[in-house]
Amino acid sequence: MTIPEILERKRDGHAHSKLELETLIGGYVAGCVPDYQIAAWLMAVYLNGMTPLETALLTQVMAESGDTLDLSSLPSTVDKHSTGGVGDKTSLVLAPMLAACGLTVAKMSGRGLAHTGGTIDKLESIPGWNAQLGEDAFLKQAREIGLVLVGQSKNLAPADGLLYALRDVTATVPSVALIASSIMSKKLASGSKTIVLDVKVGAGAFMKTIDDARQLARAMLEIGFNSGRNTRAVLTDMETPLGRMAGNALEVWEALETLHNRGETDLRDLCLALAEEALLAEGFSPSDALSVPRQALESGAALAKFRAFVAAQGGDSSYVDDPTKLGIAAGREVITASQDGFLERLDALSIGKAVLALGGGRLQKGELIDRSVGVEMHAKIGAALKIGQSVLTLYHNAGRGLEEARAALVGAIGISSQPVQPKPLILERIAL
Ligand code: URA
Repeated sequence: MTIPEILERKRDGHAHSKLELETLIGGYVAGCVPDYQIAAWLMAVYLNGMTPLETALLTQVMAESGDTLDLSSLPSTVDKHSTGGVGDKTSLVLAPMLAACGLTVAKMSGRGLAHTGGTIDKLESIPGWNAQLGEDAFLKQAREIGLVLVGQSKNLAPADGLLYALRDVTATVPSVALIASSIMSKKLASGSKTIVLDVKVGAGAFMKTIDDARQLARAMLEIGFNSGRNTRAVLTDMETPLGRMAGNALEVWEALETLHNRGETDLRDLCLALAEEALLAEGFSPSDALSVPRQALESGAALAKFRAFVAAQGGDSSYVDDPTKLGIAAGREVITASQDGFLERLDALSIGKAVLALGGGRLQKGELIDRSVGVEMHAKIGAALKIGQSVLTLYHNAGRGLEEARAALVGAIGISSQPVQPKPLILERIAL
């Protein structure tokens, strides 16, 4: 079958066979199928979807597009992945926290995707930190430190690396099949036994409704279960950004504040809840699953793990102890409350788009990003505000993208004259 014939099948709403997927994805990884054909196929998948079987086959083909790691010699291997949100720096806190609890976190993360940030882009704000490790170095670090974090590479899930970069700039991200296969192919290739999925729902997430988020969670849980992985999913709110900062270096700064026990409570609470899931899955008692991660954070053990991890991957670990060294854009613009009242809405999608406009994400494949820009949020939902009080600060470089960022933020802030009760952050825990 030719590539145009495979594209026709998805365009016309048919389900692909494994052979078709191998031909298409294998050809793309080998460099024989160009971006424009894959972009057309991604849009057809976005519009017509995939059956659960097709999604599972696509995941398998993507996971097997490179090496698959065998972590069976390592103790308690756990992995966590978010479906993508604004200000979601959870992995930066959770991964060292789990490692400090004695688990092994050997993880493959992504870059920014559409209006959401990515762990690899964030970590690259630390000078010298390197996302590309060979298999031997990956396993050695997992064994010695209990924490290693890499991006997709030529060896690990290369198909996801290529598809991810193309989806980022072709408006084809919010598809259950494409998100499930992207995330689970990385999880299967990197080999952890326990997988905790943070499925975001709301304005700033790719799944806007709880029903769509449940469908995505179930698709990933089924793939995990059928591959013999102990997989759990937590649905969490993404109507409003997580924590206080959105933007690459700013989020590393905030994650470090949390590791230093100085951070926002929503970020800390979410990390503790996800850690609890991971520890329960690993057989800890319910009370230990609550107390052990808390202790790891409060004692500084999680911070020490993060420091060792940064150094092991070539990063300058002095930044871990002095986050003010992180390069933050010098330009500032403050957006203030237009009336007295209570903060009712701080729209995560608008804030994500503002970061993108300032240069913090990509509009074209492979584009260089500006890690120093972003948005700081001075108030959480429910906060009492006075007219003129700061609500947001935009960090920009010489005004670059500032006008577009301002435009993205029109209508992003809602203030009610009545007191507002914030929504819970953890919405649902899902198991098969
Ligand atoms: N994270 C991923 O790795 N892939 C997606 O498609 C979305 C979030």
